[in-house]
Amino acid sequence: MDKMRGVISIAELTNDEIEEIFALADGAEKLRTERSASGRIMATLFYEPSTRTRLSFESAMQRLGGSVISCSDMRTSSAAKGETLADTAKVVSAYADVMVVRHNWDGAVRAMAEHADVPLINAGDGGHEHPTQTLCDLYTLRQEKGQLKGLTVVVCGDLKNGRTIHSLVFALARFGANVVTLAANGMELPQYVIERLELEYDYSMAPVSTDDLSAVMTETDALYLTPKQPHQLALFTQVDEVIQGHLNTIASGLRYDAFYMTRKQKERMKEGTTNGSYPTIGPEFLRAKRFQDTVVMHPLPRVDELSPELDKDRRGIYFKQAAYGVPVRMALLKFLFDRREGKAIKRKKKFSPVYQSRGAWTPVPQSKLRGPKGAVVDESTF
Ligand code: NCD
Repeated sequence: MDKMRGVISIAELTNDEIEEIFALADGAEKLRTERSASGRIMATLFYEPSTRTRLSFESAMQRLGGSVISCSDMRTSSAAKGETLADTAKVVSAYADVMVVRHNWDGAVRAMAEHADVPLINAGDGGHEHPTQTLCDLYTLRQEKGQLKGLTVVVCGDLKNGRTIHSLVFALARFGANVVTLAANGMELPQYVIERLELEYDYSMAPVSTDDLSAVMTETDALYLTPKQPHQLALFTQVDEVIQGHLNTIASGLRYDAFYMTRKQKERMKEGTTNGSYPTIGPEFLRAKRFQDTVVMHPLPRVDELSPELDKDRRGIYFKQAAYGVPVRMALLKFLFDRREGKAIKRKKKFSPVYQSRGAWTPVPQSKLRGPKGAVVDESTF
């Protein structure tokens, strides 16, 4: 993991690092008491709407004793005057110790990270990735099911445009969970995700019985990816006559540990392409014996994919999942600050500007003066 970069993709965190973050999240109360981020500042730059991600990051930072600066609406920031993302990243780097950015363009957060001098956290970039949601999702599954390895998770809905899905399937594959995909027609996983699963995680495709999943969706064809390692398995839905012919022959009777439902990402679709059937979880699912221990997750917001009946059922764990956003993000922030500090000791010193009022001025030690006129200090003092 590049210590300066923060987290742009879930691929930048190793499994061990994810476990380390989860161990910190388990002790979130201790992080709170210790005020682990006291004196630090987090900037949130959200170019797209958000409730959970933004507020849970802000709550996490405040619970760690740190503070938060933000633009309440990026349309009122200098972006509206034509400022580039690169310039914004450079400028905000001088105001904060970490930046949390959401943007509607795929890759925008990575581009900003190239120009930032502080770690950047991707809070969702277009239809691409949402790595911190994945941390919350994995943590929720681990809390509910004890471990990730060997679980079978059905990812459901708009798998094409849902960025939470793209980060999640890679992470599930890495932890040895079985990934079953049940896409709305025309919203299958993008080819690049499938290819990466095949190339990097050794998955291969095979058909599966749709009878198993008819409580959620009836009009669909299904396929699954069987890995060369026996513990990994993924199932894919596709609109394909040939595949349909193979259905019901293989892998019926799988144990499903979780359904991960997503909403249709209308904002990423061309008008006129948003109609058609969409999977839903409701009474039929709740009554099916096969799903009696299957938990239902959703990154939220939901629209009409989940029936309200599920809210009162022990298997509907999406509000818990949203609540874990705070301890998990507290843990991630603490992890990144610790990393950065560790590195700052070894790294060649780098200087960032500090602006202080005359009254508060304390002379910068001579040894630290390198830049123009002494208006610079070692970043390790942040
Ligand atoms: C998700 C997102 O923004 O990608 N929401 C979230 O962060 N919890 C899912 C969505 O908007 O559908």
